[in-house]
Amino acid sequence: FAAPVDATNCSTAGTLPSCTNVKDQKCCPPPNPNISDYVLPEYRSLRTRPAAHLANRKYVEKYNKALKIMRSLPNEHPHSFAQQAAIHCAYCDSAYEMVGFPNAKIDVHFSWLFFPFHRWYLYFYERILGKLIGDPDFAIPYWNWDAKAGVSVPDMFNNRDSPLYDKLRNDDSQLKMDLNYDYKDAANYVSPVGKQLIESNKSLMYTSMVSARTPTLFFGQVYRGGDAQINGPGTIERQPHTAVHVLMGDRNQINGEDMGRFYSAGRDPIFYSHHANVDRLWNIWKRLPGKNRKDFDQTDYLDSAFLFYDENEKLVRVKIRDCLDSSKLGYDYEKVPLEWLNSRA
Ligand code: C2O
Repeated sequence: FAAPVDATNCSTAGTLPSCTNVKDQKCCPPPNPNISDYVLPEYRSLRTRPAAHLANRKYVEKYNKALKIMRSLPNEHPHSFAQQAAIHCAYCDSAYEMVGFPNAKIDVHFSWLFFPFHRWYLYFYERILGKLIGDPDFAIPYWNWDAKAGVSVPDMFNNRDSPLYDKLRNDDSQLKMDLNYDYKDAANYVSPVGKQLIESNKSLMYTSMVSARTPTLFFGQVYRGGDAQINGPGTIERQPHTAVHVLMGDRNQINGEDMGRFYSAGRDPIFYSHHANVDRLWNIWKRLPGKNRKDFDQTDYLDSAFLFYDENEKLVRVKIRDCLDSSKLGYDYEKVPLEWLNSRA
């Protein structure tokens, strides 16, 4: 028996099992009985998501402006930053029931849902920001942490007076992204430094991208309607993605807020650029040589669906099948050299 995963009935996240001192998280979106199937607009030109470390002043100003407006909306508004952040909590901390399986709760991590869920999530975040500043071509920046130039937090996020800043964040000004960071045994882990750190990041990227030759290795394991939560992440999700989350969290917070926990990660604007890089790696992976570098084609995957508010405040149901090609969603990424391409360990 098999079925796609489909979201219905968001109820307050139950337990937040792994968080201390966090109660009554309200992460469901504003209720709305009218859910429509999302129809993708026809995009004639592509929005190009720039590398954050290369973005110019004008671009940074524009993003600041958009986010400032988003942050100024009342919390209950579906376009508010609080609501955007809550989306991550709702889909990661068991707030959504699955259609047809009221006892199964959706978790978009550790399985094949990881890449497509986050793609749709960023897509609406971007469309909403564009709408707020009247610029439908606005594209969010990606944090190119797989390159040497992106190993530190990009400048635009460091300005304390900017809406891109988040107080609950690791504020070590020397902080570098160690993609091999052993977040499960952090107490005993020693990070390499300088050139060695860069080399170690490159070999991890090689292993996660080039050596992950099948969809299951790269995207993660099968997870269908009615399935209990699984632990089957793909290579990118398991290591570099999670390392960056944990490293970015504020060490003085009991749960590593904001970036270090699912319920709070979306409250840090750097989350969206972190995930834009993850999303970009999906596009890159499919273009690497090898006959198995393609998206899953099982119907249960393609028909799996999520709910989001779109830029017109409509609650829409989106399917994975419609997001596999980012150019259909109207965007692609600024090209930068792939430094890890030949870094076989
Ligand atoms: Cu939904 Cu980076 O996790």
